[in-house]
Amino acid sequence: MEVGQVIGSTTLRSFRFVIREGMEKHVKRDEFVTVPESVTGKTIIGAVKDIVVSNELLPDEFSRDLRMSQIIFEDGEYPVPIVKILGIEGPEGLELPRHGIKPGTQVSLAQDEDLKRLLHQDPEKSALIGHLSTRNSVPVYMSINEMVSRHMAILAMTGAGKSYTAGVLIEELMKKGGSIVMFDPHTEYVKMRLENSQVKVYGLGDGTEIQVAASSLSTSDYASLIPDLTSTQRDLLDEVIGIVDKFYDKYDMNTLLEILSLLYDLKKNGKKVDEEAMVFPPNYLKAMTKKVGLATIGALMRRIKRIERMNVFGMDGTPLEEIASPNRLTVINLSEFDERVSEIVVSVVCRKIFNSRKRHVQDGNGLANPLLVMIEEAHNFAPSSSEGEPAISRAILRKIAREGRKFGVGVCLISQRPNKLDADVLSQCNTQIIMKIVNPADQEHIRQSVEDVTEDIVNDLPSLSRGEALIVGSAIRLPVPTKIRQRETEVGGQDIDIVGAWMKK
Ligand SMILES: Nc1ncnc2c1ncn2[C@@H]1O[C@H](COP(=O)(O)OP(=O)(O)O)[C@@H](O)[C@H]1O
Ligand SMILES: [Mg+2]
Repeated sequence: MEVGQVIGSTTLRSFRFVIREGMEKHVKRDEFVTVPESVTGKTIIGAVKDIVVSNELLPDEFSRDLRMSQIIFEDGEYPVPIVKILGIEGPEGLELPRHGIKPGTQVSLAQDEDLKRLLHQDPEKSALIGHLSTRNSVPVYMSINEMVSRHMAILAMTGAGKSYTAGVLIEELMKKGGSIVMFDPHTEYVKMRLENSQVKVYGLGDGTEIQVAASSLSTSDYASLIPDLTSTQRDLLDEVIGIVDKFYDKYDMNTLLEILSLLYDLKKNGKKVDEEAMVFPPNYLKAMTKKVGLATIGALMRRIKRIERMNVFGMDGTPLEEIASPNRLTVINLSEFDERVSEIVVSVVCRKIFNSRKRHVQDGNGLANPLLVMIEEAHNFAPSSSEGEPAISRAILRKIAREGRKFGVGVCLISQRPNKLDADVLSQCNTQIIMKIVNPADQEHIRQSVEDVTEDIVNDLPSLSRGEALIVGSAIRLPVPTKIRQRETEVGGQDIDIVGAWMKK
């Protein structure tokens, strides 16, 4: 459908045109148009990025002393759409044109078929995420292999539709028998039910709490759990952990407490300890008594007791095979944990997943299935360096972001504060679903960290509506404004109708 004619000077990146009479309603922001390239006649595709409306009877200089309401100027008015050139369709996707566009050339609306072809992905291996914002008739697909193996991020301000979109992705990936572990700090996903896949939820207060084996904690993990751990206490803890690692198959906080208590007795009154009953040679303890004071031992015991009471760290952790399994969505509810425990849970589970998949690739043991880890409030788990003390989970998330591809472990970071997200991790996310963002600091951080995000894209972010996203990166063939499709499953964490609730009472 012909909608206008090119006017003014054109470049290889953009052109302007005047709209043919009656075609105004078709020409809108983000709509796709085509023009022939000069010399080759190949079809150049572009997107309307702006529309300048001028009136020849009303030049800019006039406006100072005009009383607008009394004047009708429609006749001299002409809108001029400004088109950003996306390229010419080639075997490798879109290529920028090499020849110019002649002024006067006819401009057509791109056909649905052309756009579908441009956005085409193998349906067996892609996720139907929505349709073009400007056309319901053109579906938008994302490559699942790319999303999972090269990581992704869903970024937007609160209420823009991140969790809703994450739910759509989960639905799509689970249709392919996916394996997903979702860390859910706000119980938004615990109600998800999927038709043909299992949903396993941890942590709803019904005895299904996630358990972390004490033996999977490093001294740094303890230090993160115990913010007031002094360096002498830490040294002591190091020694005790050295003993249990060496002489015990598995252990829990009580084991640590027993050893510390023996040490305390020995130090206090040189009391004879029952050496026969000890699992490890008594001289280990004797050497330690020389180095630490009673106060340190007592203080460390109190701190370990604090961890014990959290009911998360036991002899056995939840088996990884139960957490991560094919055709299963696992939701780990973090809402009952404080920040530090949440960080430990995320890092221990992610470390196990990563190491297990690494083993699998190296020698065939370990988790047999690739999987995707999804993290809400990702800025808390992989905070940028400027956010003070780094979260303990950042290291493993960086590792997965850098090396996960080799081992079939992907991450999907979801965050409403992209500015607070670690730039290292963010820059490794090769696909971005970006929704409405108005905060300039967040916009700037995304622009600097993500290669595919250009100035143009950033400028469009504030004007996106709820449920609308710009998708860029390796999982999509063309960065396009997309309306995210309707959810098939129940949506958690809905906005509460406050006035409605008040009026009922
Ligand atoms: N694509 C969409 N279609 C319909 N409703 C949506 C869509 N995206 C978001 N919503 C609604 O908007 C509200 C906020 O979405 P949500 O995903 O919770 O935002 P966020 O996680 O970014 O804070 C919810 O009530 C949700 O149901
Ligand atoms: Mg949300």
